[in-house]
Amino acid sequence: MALTREFRTSSSEETIALGRELAAMLTPPKMLILHGDLGAGKTTLVKGIAAALGAADPEEVTSPTFTLIHEYVGQEYAGQEYAGQREGREVLLYHLDLYRLEEERELYPLGLEELETPQSLVLIEWGEKFPSLVARADGEIVIESIGPDARRVTLRLR
Ligand SMILES: Nc1ncnc2c1ncn2[C@@H]1O[C@H](COP(=O)(O)OP(=O)(O)OP(=O)(O)O)[C@@H](O)[C@H]1O
Ligand SMILES: [Mg+2]
Repeated sequence: MALTREFRTSSSEETIALGRELAAMLTPPKMLILHGDLGAGKTTLVKGIAAALGAADPEEVTSPTFTLIHEYVGQEYAGQEYAGQREGREVLLYHLDLYRLEEERELYPLGLEELETPQSLVLIEWGEKFPSLVARADGEIVIESIGPDARRVTLRLR
């Protein structure tokens, strides 16, 4: 199901709130690339997604710049129905930041395939640097600065 949605936010609080809304559209399993410049608001958006899943409070979600991967365990977003399944199913939220990696072969030790379970929502900052990830992704969320605090957020699912 291809889908493109565009949103605007004018503060980090609004971006967290948008993340909460978007979580309802991010039915696992999914792997998405979070595309945007340094400081665009990628990690901020993940705070809202994690909160919606009950996986972590916004202040608990920090940038996985050095650890590369953060894992959170949550539950299906309330009100969301996965095909034929009831609410309450576990969701594994993986938040990656690949800014510090440069080559495809540096991805191997991460064991990305193992992260992709039927319950997984894998969100990858700077994933666009790696063609293999772009090819595998179910879509992307693009965040662009359009003013000091204004952001355009585009969700594309394929
Ligand atoms: N509308 C907005 N949405 C999100 N963040 C905003 C907004 N307006 C201002 N900001 C600020 O922009 C910064 C966004 O930081 P964040 O860590 O989320 O960016 P990032 O895209 O993950 O960057 P990096 O590539 O360095 O990981 C924060 O300091 C936040 O307060
Ligand atoms: Mg970040």
